[in-house]
Amino acid sequence: MIFTVVGARPNFMKAAPIHRAFERAGISHGLVHTGQHYDEAMSKVFFGDLGMPRPVIDLGVGSGTHAQQTAAVMIGLEAFFTEKKPEAVLVVGDVNSTLASSLVTAKGGIFSAHVEAGLRSRDWSMPEEVNRIVTDSLADLLLTPSPDGDANLLAEGCDPDSIVCVGNVMIDTLLEHLPKARDLNTPQKLALTPGNYAVLTLHRPSNVDDPATFRGLLDAITAIAAQLPVVFPVHPRTRKQAAAIGHDLDAIPGLKLMDPMGYLEFLSLTSQARLILTDSGGLQEEAPTFSVPLLVLHEETERPEAVEAGCARLVGTDRAGIVSPVIPVGARAVVGTRVTGTRVRRGGRVHFSGTVRPSEPGRGIAIQKRRDGRWITVAGTVARPGGATFAIYGKTIRVRRGGLYRVFLGAGSGATVPNVGRTIRIRTHR
Ligand code: UD1
Repeated sequence: MIFTVVGARPNFMKAAPIHRAFERAGISHGLVHTGQHYDEAMSKVFFGDLGMPRPVIDLGVGSGTHAQQTAAVMIGLEAFFTEKKPEAVLVVGDVNSTLASSLVTAKGGIFSAHVEAGLRSRDWSMPEEVNRIVTDSLADLLLTPSPDGDANLLAEGCDPDSIVCVGNVMIDTLLEHLPKARDLNTPQKLALTPGNYAVLTLHRPSNVDDPATFRGLLDAITAIAAQLPVVFPVHPRTRKQAAAIGHDLDAIPGLKLMDPMGYLEFLSLTSQARLILTDSGGLQEEAPTFSVPLLVLHEETERPEAVEAGCARLVGTDRAGIVSPVIPVGARAVVGTRVTGTRVRRGGRVHFSGTVRPSEPGRGIAIQKRRDGRWITVAGTVARPGGATFAIYGKTIRVRRGGLYRVFLGAGSGATVPNVGRTIRIRTHR
């Protein structure tokens, strides 16, 4: 028999399509739950939402320090595997349960495969980075979600024959469940308008365990929630840390606090948001699939694809970095922009002139053109030193065809968050 080990929330959506694939192939496969996550909302609800069978065993290890949790999973798994003698064990992701299982299978001489191998943030202070590196160095088969994973593993000297790029199993789950999730109408049930709210998730130890960083993030979130409703399903770790620093999350105007949500309910919410703010790795993969822009609340990412594709931006954890790309939400941020020459000859020039006064200092202005369903930056200018007033008098761009343009206030060039200051239709005549 083959087992897949799951333990924490982000593991469940990855294990679901794996289990179904084994079932379809007629291969005997069971789920082993370590019990790292145990609350109904953090664990059980996912089994129902994803149509997964009950685990063969739940080790019930619960919370603890890294050593306690990892050791408890190792002790439980060692006994279970000794009795069951699996042909192979699969692990997914990068949580402590993943690491613990890898150590037990390596020492027990059991064939192991890592699904989601090869991701690297290069940030050794993240427990997940340590878990990933140890797991990949011990696994017999390295199943990567994307080619950057292959490149990372090859650079670390892994045997090329052990690496197979299989794609992203979490996105398999997402695509299967998206229509059902949308039918739940979660935004409407929360009195939100689709496309007019942000979703926030925050739980990384580096963001919430350090009081100064956590306070800075909450400060940024307060500024954003003043402009756009922000829905925040609060992770237990984050709730605990907010209480520890005496910060009343309920008191932030515009921030809608929720308990952790089930898979389908959360997908219904995120897939219809205007913007996602997150430090989650999974959401960085999911959001581009349903075309919702993403601000990553972290300095590095182990999932560079979304950033490289222009769907996500790494904004760090400082208030200025997080807030400035979001400033232009709503017309309030861009005033007095005027366009001249809206009727131009093909190949002629359009002059954008006027003054843009952001409600807070920003860093740059881009003129973007709608092309093939995307906004492409065709001209840009930067802030004048020391001022919150931007001028783009006489800025010209060459117009090849008529089309939709917009003036975009953002945090530099290549702005990807669609906070449209103003959209202008340029007409051309032959
Ligand atoms: C773990 C993973 C992280 C993953 C995250 C998703 C590790 C090192 N980290 O972090 O990679 O992104 O899961 O959620 O494995 N708690 C509850 N109920 C639960 C589970 C946890 O209340 O069902 C509380 C406990 O107070 C616990 C704290 O949350 O101490 C943290 O849980 P833990 O499993 O240690 O790590 P996560 O922060 O959830």
